[in-house]
Formats: sequence, structure tokens, C-alpha cells
Amino acid sequence: MVRPSSVTLKITMAVSGILLVLFLFVHMAGNLKIFLGATSFDHYAHWLRSIGSPLLPDTWYLWIQRAVLTVAVLAHIYTAAVLTVRAKKARPVKYAHRPKVQGSYAARTMRWGGVIVLLFVIYHILDLTTGNLNPNGDKAHPYANVVADFAPERWYVTLFYTLAIVAVGFHLAHGIFSAARTLGQQTMKGQRRAKYIAIALSLVLVVGYLSVPFAVLTGLVD
Ligand code: HEM
Repeated sequence: MVRPSSVTLKITMAVSGILLVLFLFVHMAGNLKIFLGATSFDHYAHWLRSIGSPLLPDTWYLWIQRAVLTVAVLAHIYTAAVLTVRAKKARPVKYAHRPKVQGSYAARTMRWGGVIVLLFVIYHILDLTTGNLNPNGDKAHPYANVVADFAPERWYVTLFYTLAIVAVGFHLAHGIFSAARTLGQQTMKGQRRAKYIAIALSLVLVVGYLSVPFAVLTGLVD
């Protein structure tokens, strides 16, 4: 059986992570169209289904993207699991004195942060893609679905999204930094720069994503 080296696994983890981050930026840009009104947002959501037309039949691009994202998520989880098992095997005896504070908060919460993000994505797809968990659940009107979702009386949904998106932010802050290191950014100066860039990109994503539920909650978007 082929046993991929730890370097191959880390590179797979970094590349799959970068693909997911690219999706997150494009998805955030699309979400911000909510501030341009229902017509603009719904038009954008319908356009998503016809990307590639007339070369590709309707929704083909969307399904290709879904397949690529699913493979990226599975590769990311698989490599994380194998690397964790290998790290444990390399040090079967626990440290007698393990320092309490090890790395940043983001670095220490990668595993649980990842699990929370995964559970959120499953809920989110049932909420805003299939509509099963959405009070409106009308596929033809995604703007109305988003507004119904984050209505003030459903503040707990906004709270849940906020916690999940903050978890995404922490996961990315450490993930982007680690990917830069795996892919060759190894000088002290380079690593410091990678850290600031990772934090800045994560902050842009967190603020961009949160702006939508909070705009609905406060009545800016209705
Ligand atoms: C408050 C922030 C967010 C809003 C308002 C939002 C909105 C939406 C909407 C309206 C859709 C359905 C698009 C359509 O089918 O027309 C969607 C799909 C999706 N969102 Fe989000 N989203 C948010 C945050 C996120 C985050 C943080 C992630 C990932 C961690 C994410 C991942 C996805 C995925 C994977 C899909 C399914 C795409 C597909 O149908 O292939 N979203 N989102």
C-alpha cells in the first residue's frame, strides 16, 4: 500500500485549504450583493446556476464546483487525521511537563474549530441551499430566505452564525499561516509577514460574512 510522506500530506492539506479559502472569498463577495437589493441578489443567485452556459448545460458548473469542494474538504480532513495519528505515534509517552500555553489560541483550537465549521456547513446547506431548515425555504427567492433567516425574533440563528463564522476566522488565521509555511515561507521575517496577512484576510472574511446577518437583524436590509 502507498504510504504518502508527511510532507505530501501537509502539501495536500495546504492546497485543499487554499481552494476552500478561495471559495470563501468568492462566496462572501456574492453575499455582499444583498446590499444592492433583492433583484440584484436573486439575479446573482440564479446566474450561479447558469455559469458556463452555453458550453455547459445549466447547473453543471455548480455541480463541478460542489464536487471539487467536497473532494477538498475530504482531503483536508483525511490529511489532518493521518498527520495527527502520526504525531501521536511519534511521541507515545505524554510530556511530563507540558507547558499550559502552547501556540496561539487559533493554533490550539484547529481540530475542534474544524469540526464546528463542518457542522455549520451542513446546517447552512440545509438552511440556505436546500431550504429545509429555512422559515421561507423558497429556492426561487434567496434574498427573502436570507431576510427570513436572520429576522430579529430569530436572534439565536444570528448568534449561531456569528459563533460559527468566528470559528471560521480562527481556523483560517492559523490555517493560512501554516499553509504559507508548508509552501515555503520559512524565514523569521517571512513568517511574521505571513501571520499578519493571515490575520488580515481572516478579519476581512469575518466582517464581510457577519455584515449580512447583522444588517438584517438591525433592519438595514429588509
Ligand atoms: C452569514 C453568512 C453567510 C450567508 C448570508 C450565506 C448565504 C448563502 C446562500 C444564500 C447560499 C445559497 C446560494 C444559492 O444556492 O443560491 C449559500 C450556500 C453555501 N454557503 Fe453560504 N453564506 C454565509 C456563510 C457561509 C460560510 C461561512 C460558509 C463556509 C464556511 C458557507 C458555505 C456555503 C456553501 C458550501 C454553500 C453551498 C453552495 C452550493 O450550493 O454549492 N457560507 N450561502
